[in-house]
Amino acid sequence: MEEKLTREGSPERRRFFKGLLAGLAGLWGVGLVSSLVLYLKAPPRHGSGLDSAVAVGLLDQLPPGQGQMVTGAHRPFWLVRSKAGELVALPAVCTHRRCILQWDGDNQLLCPCHQGIFDLKGNVLGGPPPRALEKLAVTVKGGRVYVYP
Ligand code: FES
Repeated sequence: MEEKLTREGSPERRRFFKGLLAGLAGLWGVGLVSSLVLYLKAPPRHGSGLDSAVAVGLLDQLPPGQGQMVTGAHRPFWLVRSKAGELVALPAVCTHRRCILQWDGDNQLLCPCHQGIFDLKGNVLGGPPPRALEKLAVTVKGGRVYVYP
């Protein structure tokens, strides 16, 4: 039997291409939905576990009255152990023009760019910084200090 071809092609060929188009549309839809789900999925919360923390070191290695700047996290920060033994972590980036703050060895962070001054609670004591520093969460587990930058 001779197959009759029309301008649109044979019915089998049309069915094949319709199926192919439906399959491609389905794959495109799955990709689109997957991309949307990944985009809308909430990012992990900072501070929800030690996996988001920076291990700074052993508490014994930071005696009262000492501090250290920690770099390598997504932003540098100061970890200071006050003379009373309290651990304080503050961003080392000024809220004015983002200069790197220096610890005065006592109870203030100083900005060398425009003389901004912060206390160890992050409050602005002087200079042009428009807002306080956000205190960072600190925890001690097994003698190790962890900061959530
Ligand atoms: S950048 Fe710190 S006071 Fe201006």
